Amino acid sequence: MSFSILSTGRALPRTVLTNEQLCRFVDTTDEWIRSRTGIAQRYVCMEESLTDLAAQAARNAMQRAGVEASDLDLILCATISSDYITPSLACTVQEALGASCPAFDISAACPGFLFALDVADGYFARGKAKRILVVAAEAMSRLMDWRDRSTCVLFGDGAGAVILGPGDGLRSLLLQTQGRAEVLYVPATRGNLPGRATGAKSYAVMDGQEVFKFAVTAMCRGLRHAIREAGVAEEEISWVLPHQANLRIIEFAMSKMKIPPERFLINIDRLANTSAACIPILLDESREQGKLKKGDLLAMCAFGAGLTSASAVIRWDAD
Ligand code: UT7
Repeated sequence: MSFSILSTGRALPRTVLTNEQLCRFVDTTDEWIRSRTGIAQRYVCMEESLTDLAAQAARNAMQRAGVEASDLDLILCATISSDYITPSLACTVQEALGASCPAFDISAACPGFLFALDVADGYFARGKAKRILVVAAEAMSRLMDWRDRSTCVLFGDGAGAVILGPGDGLRSLLLQTQGRAEVLYVPATRGNLPGRATGAKSYAVMDGQEVFKFAVTAMCRGLRHAIREAGVAEEEISWVLPHQANLRIIEFAMSKMKIPPERFLINIDRLANTSAACIPILLDESREQGKLKKGDLLAMCAFGAGLTSASAVIRWDAD
């Protein structure tokens, strides 16, 4: 016995930053960003903490499932941009919700949500939980050098959450890691050596083309592998929830898979790349739009810094 998704929730910051607004302080153009990535705008945390966003997404999911904080047996947060180095985001979310269960973070970059689902799977398999809250939340804007046009135009902030309960909705889940830090990383700050405080900041550094090459392979291979493991044909997949890093990467996967392109869910135009939060936000938006029907098979795939990648097939069991 593993899990089924009982409900979903999401939260976005109040502030929208359009490409046109970005062009006022970064050497870029709306045309470049749209044509190379498909992004038109992103949301950024100007007033909100990441805990605010994550807790709001969690509350939305809990309300929909009729779950109280005291019902939760575990809180897992997937993030690389927590409010604190320590405590974890899961701890600050637990406090905000008034829960008392164990809570910890998963650091696996963009596929972090799927890595967290794998941990949750283990808790259900061992009979250690009946209700698990998984929240993927990112304030990627805090990790950007806003003078570096090769990275800052790509990312956005947001949070998505799911409540999981015992069930057999999970059909396959595969994780992969290839340790290759140099292509995409955020260095730890080195500003606090004794007598040498520099106040140094750390920003995301990326070799975009290397990540792109990894991403197109990881996306197609990951989706195919998860669909095969689930014992279904590509044509039986109702919806694909691909990581929203670049529309061109998604279009490449569309052209290679036997799944009609209209079944690929996309929100990169409005939200940009919210890292670990992309898939659960897409899930909640699609639920709200009435796209997901009970019994639908959802294929998910994400890739990111590590390098990490993960894919899954999950049957939608909620009403
Ligand atoms: O979540 C996982 C993390 N990230 C990814 O998956 C990202 C994967 N990579 C990509 O999506 C793409 O490689 C990028 C969108 C990052 C870049 O697109 P590209 O088509 O690979 O562009 P490029 O890096 O080859 O750069 C082409 C040109 C360069 O100018 P020159 O050298 O040809 O004169 C860049 O300096 O575009 C320039 N450029 C920009 N120009 C305007 C790079 N960023 C910008 C920008 N605005 N924002």
